[in-house]
Amino acid sequence: MANTVVIGMQWGDEGKGKIVDLICPSFGAVVRYQGGHNAGHTVKFEDRHFALHLVPSGILHAGMRCVLGNGMVISPPAFFEELDGLAAAGVEVGDRLVVSDRAHVLLPHYAELDRRREESLGDDRIGTTSRGIGPAYELKAARCGLRMADLLASDLPTRLERLAAELGHRGAGDRDEWLAGLPAVRGWAERLAPFVDDTTGLLAAWRREGMAILFEGAQGTLLDLDHGSYPYVTSSSSTAGGAAVGSGVPPTHLDGVLGVLKAYTTRVGEGPFPTELHDEAGSYLRQRGNEFGTTTGRPRRCGWLDLVAARYACEVNGVDTIALTKLDVLDGFDEIKLCVAYRVDGEEIRRFPADAAKLARAKPVLESVPGWTDETAGVLAHDALPAAARDYVARIQAETGAPVSLISTGPRREETIVRDEPRFAELTGGFAG
Ligand code: IMP
Repeated sequence: MANTVVIGMQWGDEGKGKIVDLICPSFGAVVRYQGGHNAGHTVKFEDRHFALHLVPSGILHAGMRCVLGNGMVISPPAFFEELDGLAAAGVEVGDRLVVSDRAHVLLPHYAELDRRREESLGDDRIGTTSRGIGPAYELKAARCGLRMADLLASDLPTRLERLAAELGHRGAGDRDEWLAGLPAVRGWAERLAPFVDDTTGLLAAWRREGMAILFEGAQGTLLDLDHGSYPYVTSSSSTAGGAAVGSGVPPTHLDGVLGVLKAYTTRVGEGPFPTELHDEAGSYLRQRGNEFGTTTGRPRRCGWLDLVAARYACEVNGVDTIALTKLDVLDGFDEIKLCVAYRVDGEEIRRFPADAAKLARAKPVLESVPGWTDETAGVLAHDALPAAARDYVARIQAETGAPVSLISTGPRREETIVRDEPRFAELTGGFAG
């Protein structure tokens, strides 16, 4: 019985949704611990196709519990839309979905604040998802945010008055306009009430019963507020450490980390990206990998695999084992490039720099490795991969020091190679596919 954290090792969109969906039958519950409806993943199963933003993909598995932890910022309309979508698809949610009473409420007005901030930044904009994520976390850190517990409190109007006053001080909204929105907020509270609970206590009780819990990170390491390519990051802790803070499960109860690494790199939004490709290879990756945002539909920027970033992600998250995704997207290249270091201001560096301006000046030190012409798409055994693809995997292991235990060769659950790797077996209760 292990409590395992799944995180993205790049700038998000590594394919965590598929991996969580695949291994979650080995767990009793899946917990989201940060972010909000800026995240998004697509899950394909049989003839069904789901895009989820707030609710973990575990909800598609009968009996699986899903928790939206205290570290999240939750938009009630987005939450209801997702519930309605699940109901329309015949997914029985019942009492399997629980929202932390400590989670913050993301009010629709925050999206407008997000957009205005971006406009004022001009060329320096972050390229956010415009969902209001930044403002929600700002209010949380300023200790005047609205939490689920506030939404259910009998003096909600007073609490909203306080928030409206605070926003007024910031020149971010008209008090009367805010308060006019109250009836809608009351309606949300009524619909949310059955889902809201003390999830810290619930998770502790489940652990006492011996339940294994899976923690699903959203976004990726390089978008983490502290460890990412600041300021071009999201406003939450998307690294493994965030799992403890954002769920109320102590770090001593987390057993290990599965890092999800895409076989190449993508990024949405602005900010430095040393291995970005502006040529045909980049377009090939975008088209073949269907690299368009699940949440915003934006085309993703594409580039070669960045091993500087991957090593950094292993260090910051304590990655025990790697799930390598979208290997099949590299099918058809004569040669593939790997970034092993950066060259900045005439100096070669092997570590991910803190300064975004320095990262923007970094030129990738690229090594060419042979590509493969045989398809890896849909291959189900490691031995059946072309030799060059196996070498590519081996190189990633050697560079990161973490074994690659899963290899995804297509979007479907079934299109996955599960390797016999002891640490992975420990962290997934012996999951074998
Ligand atoms: P925000 O989270 O909307 O504030 O956006 C901040 C940065 O994170 C922008 O570069 C977004 O494109 C990026 N971002 C947020 N969520 C995701 C995600 O789920 N996948 C990839 N990028 C994301």
